Amino acid sequence: MSVGSDATQGGTTTTGQSSLMGDDSQFARKIIERKLASVDEVELVRDQVRELQKKGQPVTLAEMLVKFGYITKSQLDRLNLAMDEDSMYRPAQQIPGYQILGKLGQGAMATVFKAKQLSLDRIVAIKVLPRRLSENQEFVDRFYREGRAAARLNDPNIVAAYDVGEAMGYHYFVMEYIDGTTAYDLLSNGQKKWLDEKDAISIVSQVARALQHAHDKGLIHRDVKPKNIMITRNKVVKLADMGLAREVDDHKAATAEAGRAYGTPYYISPEQIRGEIKIDHRADIYSLGATFYHLVTGKVPFEGPTPSAVMHKHLKESLIPPDHINTALSTGIGEIIEVMMAKNADLRYQSADEVIEDLEAVRNGEPPFQARRHYNADLLEDLASGGEVIASPRHPLHAPMPANHVSVNWVVAMGVLLFVSVMVNLLLLLR
Ligand SMILES: Nc1ncnc2c1ncn2[C@@H]1O[C@H](COP(=O)(O)OP(=O)(O)OP(=O)(O)O)[C@@H](O)[C@H]1O
Ligand SMILES: [Mg+2]
Repeated sequence: MSVGSDATQGGTTTTGQSSLMGDDSQFARKIIERKLASVDEVELVRDQVRELQKKGQPVTLAEMLVKFGYITKSQLDRLNLAMDEDSMYRPAQQIPGYQILGKLGQGAMATVFKAKQLSLDRIVAIKVLPRRLSENQEFVDRFYREGRAAARLNDPNIVAAYDVGEAMGYHYFVMEYIDGTTAYDLLSNGQKKWLDEKDAISIVSQVARALQHAHDKGLIHRDVKPKNIMITRNKVVKLADMGLAREVDDHKAATAEAGRAYGTPYYISPEQIRGEIKIDHRADIYSLGATFYHLVTGKVPFEGPTPSAVMHKHLKESLIPPDHINTALSTGIGEIIEVMMAKNADLRYQSADEVIEDLEAVRNGEPPFQARRHYNADLLEDLASGGEVIASPRHPLHAPMPANHVSVNWVVAMGVLLFVSVMVNLLLLLR
């Protein structure tokens, strides 16, 4: 959840707005409970707020507490988040037919609860959207449309969608409950920051299977990342949030720096960053490649101090080959990841099935045939176009060509001629 650009400069807040603008007392209570300021201090600031408001200045208690240095901006952010979470319990408890058992987690866009579906006596997970999304008609329409599409999916590697609805003006999404963890948790809680290759291959293959199923039905995930990969206690991988409408389009989400809510776009495809209208299934293959990279190296493919810096690298910077970071990786893994993450979607794997095929090959100690086929296509394209190309240490011909790159074509042509003439001579000799 994001707080408006700058409370200290009189900016308004985007979330927790009602609690800050309308009901200062709830906010004041929280500040005192957390011992961020004493009752007297809060009262003093409140008097000032009232004075200023009387003069027509639309200030809030939160702004003034930050301005006078009682709380920092990040303390304010955390407090708003906590208040938002608390406020989600009430609408969740009003969802007919379900009994809320507790909170499972909190994402940038919603709160997820564990609940019992009374009619079927089964445990489910319910994602409840905040009011600001429920008030956005375009978003709500998309939410129902995509929810219906997700309900048509039936795959062991996809978190099943059960229901969508509205209670007290809050929209919710009921889904299969996963008793387990996420790939994100595995990366952050383990002693080492990466996974064993075998486990990573198993996770990526299962997600690829889920994606192939969804892609066959015309659905694109658009947010494949470690947090959306759930793993049951029996090590079955379940792709979450399939078909869940995104809050804003990919480009806006990615550039929403002020609302760090969306997270740094570590896994987003170049075409999503460019805000292309026609995003296809290959965007998911890129994001799964970026996730694979993180799983086996313990690092995201591109790091940067800001979301825009990271996005710029997705667009322009060549990848440090994953096997340069984790030198213990089996031959072929690096190639698979690089082809999944080709910046040009035409040079990527064209389907999730192709990825599965190569992962299977590497598992059997064979080379990744599909990846090599794409590399060759990539090479031919570079030679034919002589256009702007991206450098890759594994693939030197990808390095930006020098001004006299035409000579490279000449060298190739001369080589071919030489080869043909040697073969002809050899044939003549044998005769
Ligand atoms: N079907 C589910 N079963 C069990 N737990 C779930 C389920 N779906 C989500 N969760 C839990 O709720 C948390 C929040 O999920 P949510 O999708 O809102 O955010 P996220 O994917 O973690 O992050 P982001 O906001 O960056 O997308 C998850 O991290 C997970 O721990
Ligand atoms: Mg999620």
